[in-house]
Amino acid sequence: MIKVPDFTENGWADPRLAADRARWCCERLEEGAILFFPQSPFVLSEADRNFLLGVRQAGASYYKNISYRPAEDRVKGFDRGRTDAGTLRRILREYSERVIESASRLLAPYAGRWRIDFASFRPFQEHGRQLSQIARNDLLHVDAFPTRPTNGGRILRVFTNLNRTQPRIWITSDPMEVLAPQLARSACLERFIPRRPWKKLQRVIVRWGRRAGLPLRDRSPYDAFMHHFHDFLKLNRAFQEECPKYRWEFPPGSSWIVFTDTVPHAVLSGQFAFEQTFIVPCDALLQPDKAPLRILERLAGTTLTN
Ligand SMILES: [Fe+2]
Repeated sequence: MIKVPDFTENGWADPRLAADRARWCCERLEEGAILFFPQSPFVLSEADRNFLLGVRQAGASYYKNISYRPAEDRVKGFDRGRTDAGTLRRILREYSERVIESASRLLAPYAGRWRIDFASFRPFQEHGRQLSQIARNDLLHVDAFPTRPTNGGRILRVFTNLNRTQPRIWITSDPMEVLAPQLARSACLERFIPRRPWKKLQRVIVRWGRRAGLPLRDRSPYDAFMHHFHDFLKLNRAFQEECPKYRWEFPPGSSWIVFTDTVPHAVLSGQFAFEQTFIVPCDALLQPDKAPLRILERLAGTTLTN
């Protein structure tokens, strides 16, 4: 069962408890818990919230969300004809910075070790959303990025429900520690094990190419399998119908944190959410044995990264 501790804003900044709490939070997250905050600790002014709730997304079929890239201070995926780009960028930048700053305190063992990935604003109503089966958010899946391989790093996401009245409804299932031993074989993990020497040579050549400036993607066997497993779960009708399911209701104004590469999740309904992603390297984890990389390597009997 996924645990959802009831944290309050008052407990957030107590310096006497900070180190213990940070360690406890990291350990629970690594075990597959969702850390839940009934009152989001990330403050957004009324004016900025009003602006965000009026933002329109560009073509829904091309952009799944509006994305913000902190490293480039760049926003993509919004309707440029109907949105003030400068204001949207400023709000997402400030909000992203606030989340990063708070998360650095709450999850201190990771801070300074993680890579700050993209943030997103999700203005669509998820219920009844028309997407391809692989892109659907309402089917249980673990996250994997097809264009941004993590090489074993874990995907940590901080969400906030910005909706004034509606909850965001999720279902989750048992984490990778339970799921992978049940399904990795039928998802053909075998096929991703780099047994053949030419496969290893292929990655060496890709890395040389990248160093020479060629736009090649260096995807480890782990990244390739996780991307495949994301699709495998969404396309697996028996899994979608029969797996254990836990239902979560995230009320307006709440925040939650979860390793989405570990916890299978699906969004059933909800509109207007903010999300910030962090990539946590395996050597920053407190319980690396619980990382999907290590779980899959135990099942494969070999390394799945370098
Ligand atoms: Fe997801």
